[in-house]
Amino acid sequence: MKIIIAKDYDEMSKIATEIVAEQILQKKDSILGLATGTTPLGLYKKLIELYKSGRISFKDVKTVNLDEYVGLKKDDKQSYDYFMRKNLFEHIDILPENTHLPNTEAKDLEKECKRYTKLLETLTPDIQILGIGSNGHIGFNEPGTSFDSHTHIVNLTQSTIKDNSRLFDSIDKVPTKAITMGMADIMKAKKILLLATGKNKANAIKNMIKGDISQDCPASSLNLHKNVTVIIDKDASSEL
Ligand code: F6R
Repeated sequence: MKIIIAKDYDEMSKIATEIVAEQILQKKDSILGLATGTTPLGLYKKLIELYKSGRISFKDVKTVNLDEYVGLKKDDKQSYDYFMRKNLFEHIDILPENTHLPNTEAKDLEKECKRYTKLLETLTPDIQILGIGSNGHIGFNEPGTSFDSHTHIVNLTQSTIKDNSRLFDSIDKVPTKAITMGMADIMKAKKILLLATGKNKANAIKNMIKGDISQDCPASSLNLHKNVTVIIDKDASSEL
């Protein structure tokens, strides 16, 4: 695991952008595994700038997202589908049919999980972007999730619901379920880039890097992957 400590959020985003841009420049039909949440917003903004400057194109790129809430329509402003369109896809030349998220509007969600797992066998990310939950989750794989898991429906923990409530009008509006790539799906990515910023991630980062490899801290599984880069700011590194 390679660990880079950036001086702040902007520097973290810049370093991450260079890594993703290099990936696309080396392989124009790269498969990108993407995350939502606040952390990768700076990265997405800078990727849009690079696209607008003509340095990179997403014409042949394909994307697979980590997760999606259950109970929100794609056009709901809080859905991850909406998030990806507004914060990245609508500003670059990616083809909409080349972007993939779990479809939580499907009638049969168990069947949808199987479909997404199968899709990931074909669209295995060349690079997977990850954030980390304050409880150590990656994707929405909450503490206790088996390292062998594939795409599945999760009941979000109270701590995740509380963390995510900052983006909703009130805590009771936060969905309690989601579909997420499983731990085994995430670990299949060729490269993994985990980003974290802020003091509220410091404990999760400490557990990931210095703690035991255990289902209690899903991100600790990344120690078993051979190509992981972690980019964190000073605050997120404060307990190391
Ligand atoms: C999002 C995801 C989550 C977030 C994590 C951190 O697709 O899978 O694991 O990366 O909850 O979220 P932020 O970046 O909002 O702190």
